[in-house]
This record gives sequence, structure tokens and C-alpha cells, in this order.
Amino acid sequence: MGVLYHQVADRLQALILDGVYRDGDRLPGVRVLSKQFGVSISTVLQAHQTLEGRGYLQARARSGYFVRLPTVDAPEPVMHKHRNRPVPVSAREMTLELCADEQKRMVPLATAIPHPDYLPLRQIQQCTLWAARRGLETLDYAFPGKESFRRQIAQRMASVGVAVPPDDVLVTNGAQEAIILGLRAVTQPGDIVAIESPSFPGILQALEVVGLRAMEIPTHPSEGFSLEGLQLALEQWPLRACVVVTNHSNPMGARMPDERKKQLVSMLDAAGVPLIEDDIYGDLYHTGERPRPAKAFDRTGNVIYCNSFSKTVSPGLRLGWMLPGRYMAGARQQKYFSNLATSSIPQLAVARFLEQGGYDRYLRSARQNYREATERMRAAVARSFPVGTAVSRPKGGFALWVQLPAGVSGTRVYQRAREENINVAPGLMFSISGKFESCIRLNGANPWSERIDQAIARLGALAHEEQSLSC
Ligand SMILES: Cc1ncc(COP(=O)(O)O)c(C=O)c1O
Repeated sequence: MGVLYHQVADRLQALILDGVYRDGDRLPGVRVLSKQFGVSISTVLQAHQTLEGRGYLQARARSGYFVRLPTVDAPEPVMHKHRNRPVPVSAREMTLELCADEQKRMVPLATAIPHPDYLPLRQIQQCTLWAARRGLETLDYAFPGKESFRRQIAQRMASVGVAVPPDDVLVTNGAQEAIILGLRAVTQPGDIVAIESPSFPGILQALEVVGLRAMEIPTHPSEGFSLEGLQLALEQWPLRACVVVTNHSNPMGARMPDERKKQLVSMLDAAGVPLIEDDIYGDLYHTGERPRPAKAFDRTGNVIYCNSFSKTVSPGLRLGWMLPGRYMAGARQQKYFSNLATSSIPQLAVARFLEQGGYDRYLRSARQNYREATERMRAAVARSFPVGTAVSRPKGGFALWVQLPAGVSGTRVYQRAREENINVAPGLMFSISGKFESCIRLNGANPWSERIDQAIARLGALAHEEQSLSC
């Protein structure tokens, strides 16, 4: 019986979400619905109460039941406080599965990759053609990076408060390589590294390839990495490095306030623990000014800064850079040992793009696109998902972290959505210790379309169904 009234509630809710019954409409009477669904009147009444509980209906004395759409806003997720121990990081097949799925033309809501429509294709084509004509300059090993590119990077870094000469820049194959080189430069296999929780899965993979143990530190949805958590970890464990996405973290979208970045730098400096800072979303702030990186507060060279053009110009360029500070010698050696150098043509092309001011012009539209797209997706989630769902409010970037109501499994939603060709990232991927089972991450970097709209509505319906089953 319980299952039957939940089924009726789900079907009514689907009619509401599809717009058949709109906000403020009166539902047909219970007798009509009992006939329509072939169930008893008491089942319809129980279904009504269930929908009232979910926030979709309102009973009015002597008038019946009226549709009331849940408010289009949802609260932000809460910080996951947990006591942790360092844990070895092991196989993360799920990420490979997700990337393979996205190639299969599924609705691409899983990987944090900008939709190609948002990328500056024409400009980068022109700059690449220009670079390819540079002749011999394109043919050598560009170790530690093309001078013109490193000079442009030094100029950009100066504009965010980090004054370094071009010689302090090491060019890498994306931010992922920069993080791995940073880890290799300062750790030995078996060492303990503090990371955010939830954490970008690439950082977990980086720890795994280097053979490190992870100490998960909670991330606050708006203020980012918990310094209080870090303090505890520093007191208890011999940390050898700490990796933090300081601006618009992935998956939470949190941004550490400057004051906390400053404290982070000085706490780690005092403890002799290098900070590996990943600032890949720093340029994609939604409003206000470009936030400064923690590296801007580094006075001793203890911060290994990592960044790339994957989230802005294009992930396929595989072009990133690092400022290893006082760990330059180790980082250079690791780069040289692993692949000698980064390809020359992308460096020359992006250097020209930067030099001509094209990148800054492009960023203005990219920021607006990502802000609008994530806000729209956030509102769609708030409309379609069960009451009690929380959604992050990113200050930049394009990841949306969705925390489903207690007891609803994000993994089940992921699996069921996958069967329907909708790809989302299950929360489990963002931790090494089984946390975030009730979460999913959505990629907000998609131009709004009927396909995306329907996919979000369908995910919401799946979350509702999972909620019914968990009752
Ligand atoms: C936080 C973060 N760091 C690093 C990366 C990897 O960047 P790249 O493609 O430059 O290696 C990503 C990509 O998803 C990311 O989200």
C-alpha cells in the first residue's frame, strides 16, 4: 500500500513538474483522481499528504488541494565535519568511466569541462596558425617553457599580486601535471598530504600515482578549506604537503577569503609544510574583482602555485604552468624526468592570445556565461529536486554541488540517470572514505537548452523516486 500511494504521488508530481498543473492550480477532486489512477480515495489522500510534505501541494479548507511549487531557491550544503585519519588512495575507476561516458554523447553533466560553444575557437585557431608559422622556434624541446609564454604568465601573475620573473615559471601539460610535479618535488611515497573534502577527483588520482596517503580536511561551502581542521591535522599527523583549490573550489565552488588565505600560508609556513595551490578557476569569478591567490601572501617561497588554460581557453591544449617557489629545482627535475617539456605551438599560440588582449576580452563573456548558466541550473535543481535538497552557490567556476535529502543515494541517481544517457558525477568520487554518498556534482558550463532542462527535471524525478523508496 505504501508503495502505491508513493507511486501516485510521483505521477502527480511529474505532472506538476511537466507544467500540466501549474503553480496555484487546483488539483482535480479526489474522486476524479481515484478514477484516473485506478486507486482508492484513501490512496489519493495519502498521495496528497505526501506531496504536501514534499512542498508541492497546499491543502485549503473546503477548497481542495492546490499546486504550490517549491521556492526556486535551495539552501547551501552544510560543511561535512568528520574526524579523519590518513588513508592510502586507491583505484578511482569511476572517473574513467565518467569520462568515457561523456564521449558517448550522453547529456554532459558529469565532467567539469566547458561546453565547446563557450570556448574561443576562432581566436585560438588564428593564434595557432600564427604559431605554426614560427618555423624553427616551434621545433625544439621547450624546456622549461617558451620564453614569450613565461613572460606573459609573469605579467598575469603580477596583476594578481604575485611578482615573479619569467624564470620562476615552469610550463606544464595542464594543472594536473603541475600538481603531480609539485607533490613529487616535496614528498616520498607513503607520506601524508592534507586535501580538501570533498576534493576534486584529479587530486585524489595525483595522490594515488605518487603513492601518498590523504588526510581529508572539511571544506566550507562558501569559505573553503577549514583552517580549524588543518590545525588539528597538523597537531596530530606529520603532514608533508597540503593541496588546496583556493578560488572557486571543485566541487563546492567555495572561495577562501583573503584573510584565510593569508592564515593558511602562514600556518603551513610555520609548520614547514609546502602548500600546493590549485588556482584553475581563479579567472572565472562571477562578480567583483579577480580574487588573489594564496601565492600573493607567500613571502618564503613555500607555496607551489598551479594553474592552466583548461577551464578558459580549452582543455585540449594541455597547457598549464606552475610557480614552484623554493621547490623549483625538484619540480624542474620531475618535469624533465617525466616528459622533458611541454609542446611549443600551444605555448606560442596562447602567448599571442594573451599579448593581444584577446584572453581578457574573452574572459569577460566567459564569466558572464558561466554565471548565468550555473544560476539557471541552480534554479532548475531547486524547482525539480525534493524539498530538503541543498545546492551550492558558487562564487566562480561552473561546478554545482547538490546534496540530496538524508537517505537519498546520489550513487543510485547516478546509476539510474546513466541508464537514461544522463551523465552526472556521484558524490562518492570526491572522497576516499565513502563520504558524500548523498551528493552529486553537476557541470553548469552548458548553454541552456531543452535537452539540459529535461535532464535536470528527470534527475529531480529520479531523486524523488529514490526518496520514496527510502521512506
Ligand atoms: C580543480 C581542478 N584542478 C585541476 C584540473 C585539471 O586541469 P588540467 O586539465 O589543466 O590538467 C581540474 C579539471 O577538472 C580541476 O577541476
